[in-house]
Amino acid sequence: AIERTLSIIKPDAVAKNVIGQIYSRFEGAGLKVIAARMTWLSEQEAGQFYAVHKERPFFKDLVSFMTSGPVMIQALEGENAIAKNRELMGATDPKKADKGTIRADFAESIDANAVHGSDAPETAAVEVAFFFPGMNTYAGR
Ligand code: CMP
Repeated sequence: AIERTLSIIKPDAVAKNVIGQIYSRFEGAGLKVIAARMTWLSEQEAGQFYAVHKERPFFKDLVSFMTSGPVMIQALEGENAIAKNRELMGATDPKKADKGTIRADFAESIDANAVHGSDAPETAAVEVAFFFPGMNTYAGR
């Protein structure tokens, strides 16, 4: 099915100047960028976005990393987009990520892991709406 998923190019990858290389991977896999926004997240935005992880031991470091520099946020659309984006990203921990994945090629650590991608249809809908609240009023025309 055609799906939408939320993708974030994190501060480490933006600082490395690889936004274009990561976009090429999305495009090469047939994922369309249907909305995009570059921003520097506030602590409140990052904390809200990652609220599901609030009780996890890494929450504080996660918020602090995600607010350490600008991020590039996009909604991707395509056949099986959620799983396809997760395949492109590779494992959360870059040390465990398969060769040729975004995290294997561009990430340094489990915190500075280059990209975020929604993990399921339910979270994708919530995450896309979080950053692109007006989405359905302009996308797809
Ligand atoms: P992301 O897909 O953005 O979702 C939550 C982030 O928390 C994850 O990528 C990692 O960058 C970060 N993180 C740090 N430590 C862990 C951990 N032990 N397990 C999962 N995620 C972690």
